[in-house]
Amino acid sequence: MDTKILQPQDIEIGARLIKNGELVGMPTETVYGLGADALNGTAVANIFKAKGRPMDNPLIVHIAKIEDVYRLTSDFSDKARLLAEHFWPGPLTIVMPKSEVIPNEVSAGLDTVAIRYPSHPVAEALILAADTPIAAPSANLSGSPSPTTANHVFKDLKGKIPAIIDGGQCEVGLESTVITVAEGVPRLLRPGGVTLEEIEGVIGKIQVDNGVMNKLAEGARVSSPGMKYKHYAPKAHVMLIKASSCKYTDYVNSNKGNGVGALCFDEDIKALNVPYITLGRADDYISQAHNLFDALRSLDKMGLTAVYAHCPKPTGVGLAVYNRVIRSAGFEVTTLE
Ligand code: TXA
Ligand code: MG
Repeated sequence: MDTKILQPQDIEIGARLIKNGELVGMPTETVYGLGADALNGTAVANIFKAKGRPMDNPLIVHIAKIEDVYRLTSDFSDKARLLAEHFWPGPLTIVMPKSEVIPNEVSAGLDTVAIRYPSHPVAEALILAADTPIAAPSANLSGSPSPTTANHVFKDLKGKIPAIIDGGQCEVGLESTVITVAEGVPRLLRPGGVTLEEIEGVIGKIQVDNGVMNKLAEGARVSSPGMKYKHYAPKAHVMLIKASSCKYTDYVNSNKGNGVGALCFDEDIKALNVPYITLGRADDYISQAHNLFDALRSLDKMGLTAVYAHCPKPTGVGLAVYNRVIRSAGFEVTTLE
């Protein structure tokens, strides 16, 4: 199959493909998604095939008008409504009890559905033109870093999907925040562009799922199936180092050698004696989020085999950066006092 790169003015072509049950790579403000008609189970099943995604990992349904929530969920609770009013359109996904229109392929057998109203104008226009909600996971091959440019999607999925709409580089750079309001006290399942602090400012104290910061025990029950899979891994072996800039750079320099590199912050650059990629300043979590996935892909292009990553601070959007980096490092953190 030939994979065409479409421009935003070709939205109608993309919308027709979606209506015909085909897959389209689409930009959102978080990462690129691999979209299909969310109400067409057969089309949705093809997403799993193209990505090599385990069938038990449910998908997010993207909408472009709030009214659509009513037919997709059986309970649009007060808390869910407050969150939607404050953060949509934007990088927040809300898990709610599903209605009967949701195909099993979307919810992977769960009785809930994850819904998000993206703020990217191209995503919004595509959903409206297709006249159906669009189910979309990140448009990467399962396991590799999520795509933040049309070119990343092309690299992973060329020949497997008919089209990708190029909407430029994604602004946020990390996937949406996922929160469940389907079972008692709302719980953060995945941190993202909307922060824990911002959510608690709107609906009060919430829980943070154990899987956000920690490795789940073998066989543990997971609230969000995506948590249990290996994620965001470049080919290089990533080691996460929690330390001051001085201790970090000394440590990395002392391990200097063939194929050794650093994923660092601006403050570390001057003292480093190995090839590096910087994510931005140590306190600039927004830039770190924006740059992370492209950086993970670039480490491989640089031919590195061992990468020392400077551990981000888990506050604000930094929590989302931390959540992704510990996964790319297989949850191993070395602390230097
Ligand atoms: O920003 C994003 O969220 C991007 C763009 C394309 O919207 N999408 C994305 O999708 O990251 P994906 O499939 O890569 O991640 C969705 C996450 C997975 O961890 C999945 O397990 C979880 O959301 N999820 C989906 N439906 C769920 C449900 N009903 N209950 C709990 N977790 C759910
Ligand atoms: Mg993903």
